[in-house]
Amino acid sequence: MSTTRYAFLGAGNMASAMVDGLLARGAALPADLACLGGGGATAAALVARTGITLASSLPALTASADTLVVAFKPQQLAGADPRLAELTAGKLVVSVLAGKRPARLAQTFPRARAIVWAMPNTPARIGAGMTAWCSLAPLSTADRTTVEMLLTALGRVVEIDEALMDAAAAVSASGPAFLFEFAAALRDGGVAAGLPAETAKDLAVETVLGAARLLARTGTDPEELRRQVTSPKGMTLAGLTKMEARDFRGTLRETVLAAKARSEEMSRDA
Ligand SMILES: NC(=O)c1ccc[n+]([C@@H]2O[C@H](COP(=O)([O-])OP(=O)(O)OC[C@H]3O[C@@H](n4cnc5c(N)ncnc54)[C@H](OP(=O)(O)O)[C@@H]3O)[C@@H](O)[C@H]2O)c1
Repeated sequence: MSTTRYAFLGAGNMASAMVDGLLARGAALPADLACLGGGGATAAALVARTGITLASSLPALTASADTLVVAFKPQQLAGADPRLAELTAGKLVVSVLAGKRPARLAQTFPRARAIVWAMPNTPARIGAGMTAWCSLAPLSTADRTTVEMLLTALGRVVEIDEALMDAAAAVSASGPAFLFEFAAALRDGGVAAGLPAETAKDLAVETVLGAARLLARTGTDPEELRRQVTSPKGMTLAGLTKMEARDFRGTLRETVLAAKARSEEMSRDA
């Protein structure tokens, strides 16, 4: 099988999710992937688990692939190795750093042939990701194919205007954490209602999963599906009334806006 080579700078949660997605989909073989961390334990752990190559140095990493996936923490961009400017000359750079716009990335990778800013999410680990992306300049057909191959290995993909990236990331990149918090709260509610912890967990997880699948499969608005569960004077209405009284929707709205604001703020940091 012919595959594209990708080098990962940073080997933590997101890089691992991307590596897992690529390998699971057969979009890359372990031999096609290399990684380098920041001196901690993540890169060796990723290599031990997946069989991809541990690069011995930054030059070795960048030499191993035509595409560099940048996956360290956004705060680490300012202190990134200055050799990256030359080492990425002529390469395709795909960054997943929250809040780091293509123009900022171009300062670190000034000679890259193309720069992409992508915001994947952790469901990418099981091929169920949702990634929004944009590029500094329009991509060549070959680069677009490479980027789409990388990102579709993680799940669904949407190319959007750069101006919408912070908002998109607040929904889809941070969104899984918000849903996990919801699932934990549903579980805890079950325990408060008298269920054993394990039973509450099973009921909460399977309910979140089943409801999300129903939502995706039917394409029906969530409000309509909610209406179908809610009989007049019934138990669901009693629960929803409490959610409304506590302004659940307003809380989620503020949650998304706070995440977006933080993404914008990070884009102003060096
Ligand atoms: N988590 C998400 O859902 C999500 C979604 C979208 C985007 N992102 C973005 O993904 C990026 C990574 O997040 P994460 O959750 O994967 O973080 P993480 O688990 O903390 O991983 C950070 C990685 O960066 C490495 N690193 C640290 N300093 C480095 C350096 N100077 N050069 C190369 N690598 C270095 C670390 O290696 P050591 O272990 O060796 O220190 C580690 O492998 C962030 O920029 C974040 O904005 C995350």
